[in-house]
Amino acid sequence: MHAAIIMDGNGRWALARGLPRLAGHRAGAEALRRTVEAAPGAGIGVLTLFAFSSDNWRRPPEEVAGLMQLLAEHLRSETTRCLENGVRIEVIGRRDRLGGELPAAIATAESATAAGEKLQLRIAVDYSGRDAIAEAVRQAAHAGLVCRECLEEQLGPPVDLLIRTGGEQRLSDFLLWECAYAELIFSRRMWPDFDASDLEAAVRQFHARQRRFGALPPLPAVVPTGAQAWLD
Ligand code: FPP
Repeated sequence: MHAAIIMDGNGRWALARGLPRLAGHRAGAEALRRTVEAAPGAGIGVLTLFAFSSDNWRRPPEEVAGLMQLLAEHLRSETTRCLENGVRIEVIGRRDRLGGELPAAIATAESATAAGEKLQLRIAVDYSGRDAIAEAVRQAAHAGLVCRECLEEQLGPPVDLLIRTGGEQRLSDFLLWECAYAELIFSRRMWPDFDASDLEAAVRQFHARQRRFGALPPLPAVVPTGAQAWLD
């Protein structure tokens, strides 16, 4: 299963505790570590996490710098654990605007864990779904054939389950093509509070959904009426 997570709510988690936003991101990095540990046991083979969106450059420079440093530190500190646990790290998104120690930390983490087969961990950094689609089209055009399969090959595996924490219900330019038939699960939990039991609950909800991919359901659908019609 390919699960993807929009890890939202770090800032509000910190604010609620009178802490600086970066403390929320640090706590978020711990939640990320817990989630990676729990993913294979929950039946997840590919996990894509939204760590920094191309639109996040609009945040104050201190927060951006802190996030970049945290990412580099996290990659360095987690590489050995990932290697021991069969986790292959891959960073998706633009690399040309990343500064400081991050590009080297990414290269080291990716090459050290390249043989991992238990979990493919994709971390999206300076990532935009629209840019990724545009780039895939550009590459396919350059190769002389723009087709659905060519783009799919460029973009990566389809997402089965998309989780967003923090209470918002939107995609925020994350994996737009890959989420074509993703099951969407929105949680009010702030990302730093997310743990293995939340991941397992989301996976259980996913398995309870009927995925039809445009075909007909095996049984006649029950049509909700009135107040029943609105989802929470
Ligand atoms: C959204 O919360 C979160 C981010 C923009 C960054 C995600 C980063 C982490 C989970 C930690 C660091 C990542 C790694 C890979 C070590 P927000 O700041 O938008 O929260 P808010 O909506 O409450 O303000």
